[in-house]
Amino acid sequence: MCGIVGYVGEKKLVPILLEGLHCLEYRGYDSSGIAIHEGQSLNVIKAVGKISKLEEVLNVNGNSTNGKNGSVHCGIGHTRWATHGEPTEINAHPHFDTEENIAVVHNGIIRNYIEVKEKLIKEGTVFKSQTDTEVVVQLIAYNFKQSKSILKAICKSVNELEGSYALAILFKSEHNKIYAVRKESPLVIGIGKKENYLASDTPTLSRFVDKAARLLDNEIAELSKKEVVFYNFKGKKIKKKILRISKSKDILDKRGFKHYLAKEINEQSEVVLTLLQELLPSAEKSVQLDYLKLEPKFLKEVDRILILACGTAYHAGLVGKHVIEKLTSIPVEVQFASEYLNSASLLTKKSLIVGISQSGETADTIAAIKKAISSGATLIGITNRPDSALADMAKNHLIVSRSGVEVSVAATKTFTTQMLVLYLLAVYISETINHEPSTINLLKKELRQLPQLIDQTLAKSEFYQEQIVKYASSKDFVFIGRGINYPIALEAALKLKELSYIHASGYASGEMKHGPIAVLDRGVPVVSIIVPGETYERVIQNSLEAKSRKAPMIAVAVDGDKKVDGIFDTVLHIPPVSEILSPFLTVIPMQFLSYYIAEHLGRDVDQPRNLAKSVTVE
Ligand code: AGP
Repeated sequence: MCGIVGYVGEKKLVPILLEGLHCLEYRGYDSSGIAIHEGQSLNVIKAVGKISKLEEVLNVNGNSTNGKNGSVHCGIGHTRWATHGEPTEINAHPHFDTEENIAVVHNGIIRNYIEVKEKLIKEGTVFKSQTDTEVVVQLIAYNFKQSKSILKAICKSVNELEGSYALAILFKSEHNKIYAVRKESPLVIGIGKKENYLASDTPTLSRFVDKAARLLDNEIAELSKKEVVFYNFKGKKIKKKILRISKSKDILDKRGFKHYLAKEINEQSEVVLTLLQELLPSAEKSVQLDYLKLEPKFLKEVDRILILACGTAYHAGLVGKHVIEKLTSIPVEVQFASEYLNSASLLTKKSLIVGISQSGETADTIAAIKKAISSGATLIGITNRPDSALADMAKNHLIVSRSGVEVSVAATKTFTTQMLVLYLLAVYISETINHEPSTINLLKKELRQLPQLIDQTLAKSEFYQEQIVKYASSKDFVFIGRGINYPIALEAALKLKELSYIHASGYASGEMKHGPIAVLDRGVPVVSIIVPGETYERVIQNSLEAKSRKAPMIAVAVDGDKKVDGIFDTVLHIPPVSEILSPFLTVIPMQFLSYYIAEHLGRDVDQPRNLAKSVTVE
């Protein structure tokens, strides 16, 4: 969950490291720091808090860190989400060994750090921080003293370490070189002319270069200005494929919006259109997922589908369950990836696993998928990141959700595209096994209308803002929905919590009377999601029960619904829509509700406290 960056070349170093760190800030923002070669020494500069704090420190010390006459050309940077040790300056990366000969930045977790630390303490090493990362740098220093060879010291050290790590390492004795190491944490090398880069993700590198090489597990890269040499963990040289990437500065562009979150909410019609153009170019054609090569015979015999995901992706999975079961009659189970690790695996070779992860690197999801595929079941991966661990695992059974980079920590547009991929997958399976052809044809026509319907909903954002901010002082919120909109109630509660820090719960509306209704009073607004269809009358009934307990009542309902208008204090209207497609629209006022309340309360909407976008620890 941390971000790492590195540069070696002829350009001014510090601005490049800071630009890279800004791109990676979504991965953590508890502290940041850089290490640079300067003259004969290695310098480390750190600050607690966001990258802007580091910039303040660097401005104060500007002359010494920007290099004299362009003499500084090699350095590494880090932005941290704290796991081992509080977010203090001592625990911030880069970490030095005792003699300050080696500096390391790390993304991941060293599982055996206590054992290694105890061994090094016995050998006389004195530790300064509480982090697992300091163990890495001290171990490399220890092994370097024995072997006198950088590569041998790295190889020996990585063979002693257990866990996941992407490392960037500077050695004082090697002025213009960075060593990069990867095991189970992402790391990409950017290849330029007379300069080379490294970063935790490709979009960051795409700001600087148009060629990249992904380090795979158990690989090392040695970056100098001239070249990048790759090795395996035995220290043997290896060849790597160099990939073309599109150079783009888009990642940090807010497109005129005040926050990335607002930009990303407003991009939902655009990303849905992109995905439809790719996978459902016309309602008359079948869904373009043939490349998955799932044979009709196999799909006809699938015994169950298990969806594994966390957080917002899990909520998309719950919506997907409704659609897949309806269109294919195959039983679907959705599990939190972290919980699946502790449950019995009932999968067979005839089962399908659907792993969903925006980042493609969520540790819980990756671990759960590893367990699930050991049954011999087939994995379909859904991710926004084609260069991720999930993409690697899914190989030919990968569906990229094509949302573009999502910078804001709270997922919005990627939730919508994850849902859309699941709808398209359901249609694809249904078409392949020839189940429900008439329902499918109608649904495909409706899916093609989605970008327009989403646009009409987004156009109501100012109206939502006017209606919502009066509830911002509430200390608790309850969201209710039924059927396909129950997951939207869960997603709405998650979004409000993470953005505004107000406590919120999502319930299946029928469950309220079994306990949760006890929390209701004048201070707890209830937000009901009510769309015409099978669930409509029952959600109204459950809402009336809440109204009788004096709760302020808010509804998300379709334009012109007089019945709802007469019952609720506030109605957030959406365009008329079929129940099956309604989650794409009902989630939008929920996203705006969370955004506007959080903004009204002065919260940091793009980088809420305690969170990180990629959660790479279990
Ligand atoms: C969403 O707003 C959250 N930040 C979080 O729940 C997220 O969806 C979850 O951590 C899963 O992430 P992934 O999709 O990258 O696996």
